[in-house]
Amino acid sequence: MARIIFSIFIAFYMAEAVVDVGTSRIYDEFDFKGQSTVAINDICGDSCHIYASMTPDSKKLAVNLLFQLPKGFVSVAEIAAKVDPGTGQKLFLEVNNTASLSIINANVKEDAGPLVLYVVKNYGLYSGAEIYEADGFHRQISSFPASVTVLSARPFSLRQAPYPDRPLSESAQGAYATMSGYDATDKAVCPRLFYTVNSPFPGFNLEIDGPILTIIWDPEFQVAPGDLTATIGITNKRKLERSGWVGSPGNHGCYGKLPYRSSLYDVSSPFHAEVFNDTPESIHLEVLTNSDSNHAVVLQDVEFGGYYSISDTGDTPVPANFVSTKNLSINWTPDGTVNTHFLARWNSTAVFHV
Ligand SMILES: *[C@@H]1O[C@H](CO)[C@@H](O)[C@H](O)[C@H]1NC(C)=O
Ligand SMILES: *[C@@H]1O[C@H](CO)[C@@H](O)[C@H](O)[C@H]1NC(C)=O
Ligand SMILES: *[C@@H]1O[C@H](CO)[C@@H](O)[C@H](O)[C@H]1NC(C)=O
Repeated sequence: MARIIFSIFIAFYMAEAVVDVGTSRIYDEFDFKGQSTVAINDICGDSCHIYASMTPDSKKLAVNLLFQLPKGFVSVAEIAAKVDPGTGQKLFLEVNNTASLSIINANVKEDAGPLVLYVVKNYGLYSGAEIYEADGFHRQISSFPASVTVLSARPFSLRQAPYPDRPLSESAQGAYATMSGYDATDKAVCPRLFYTVNSPFPGFNLEIDGPILTIIWDPEFQVAPGDLTATIGITNKRKLERSGWVGSPGNHGCYGKLPYRSSLYDVSSPFHAEVFNDTPESIHLEVLTNSDSNHAVVLQDVEFGGYYSISDTGDTPVPANFVSTKNLSINWTPDGTVNTHFLARWNSTAVFHV
């Protein structure tokens, strides 16, 4: 009896782990592991778009994850590999009138490797959204973007270059970023992890310990920003910018949603990040964590002192202020399960130079 309850609990947990914001869902490898079929219910009832990302190593498993369509099978690997040669944007699989869309896991032992599946309702509202794969991503200065979404089964870094030679009066820009698809950038769903309004616009560097990030550009400015590029991997060593964040692997901060999951995330080693600057600046942080006091998030000014140990915050972010610091260290000890997480966001007085 205990065993049956346990299995039901696991099945329930698996189903709930999908990051579902109503208009989209994000599936990961753990949604497929040990499952012969995964059903995507409701979201493709009218029309949906499906984007995928895998890794060179997980491709061999992604070829055996098969969408069952009236015209035949389409694999997750095929969708992940589709790129528009003209724009460099990811292409999507469009599915209409399918209340329940099945994906068959034909792998031995129903295995799956690191992957992201972003399934989003197809609304005219999102027609300006641009979607790219992080690996090899380079968006050159061209048109002004409404939104740019980058998908990656591996953690990645994004660099928005500052303006090339251009009169300062033309270089103002506003942008914010959420670790979500383009449909969930509303603060009521997913918080703004990064936020800038700057003139002249200095560009920015972001590190994404998760599978997806969307940057929304302020349409007030309408000037195309400089080149936007991605590289695979993160360092957790960050030059201080006006705003930023670090968090436990996969943590997006979206209210009431479990973090993204991946076998690539290290959920047992101590977490360490450094945020440094040439000159001391004032930094205001807000920290959210469900970790207990034995696994607190510790913020420390390495040079001038200043120390915060933050645990069990519930849904109310705990502030931490450093009046003058140029080397902030952020440490956290996970409890070895995937259940604890933290997110630290900051604003600072830094004057930024890329
Ligand atoms: C889905 O429906 C839209 C709108 O009716 C149509 O333009 C599109 O071709 C359809 N796509 C597929 C794959 O049937
Ligand atoms: C910041 O402090 C760390 C120790 O936490 C040290 O290893 C690092 O070299 C320091 N960085 C700078 C830029 O001073
Ligand atoms: C940083 O500033 C922005 C804009 O004022 C605000 O929305 C955000 O909550 C601030 N973040 C922190 C961590 O204080």
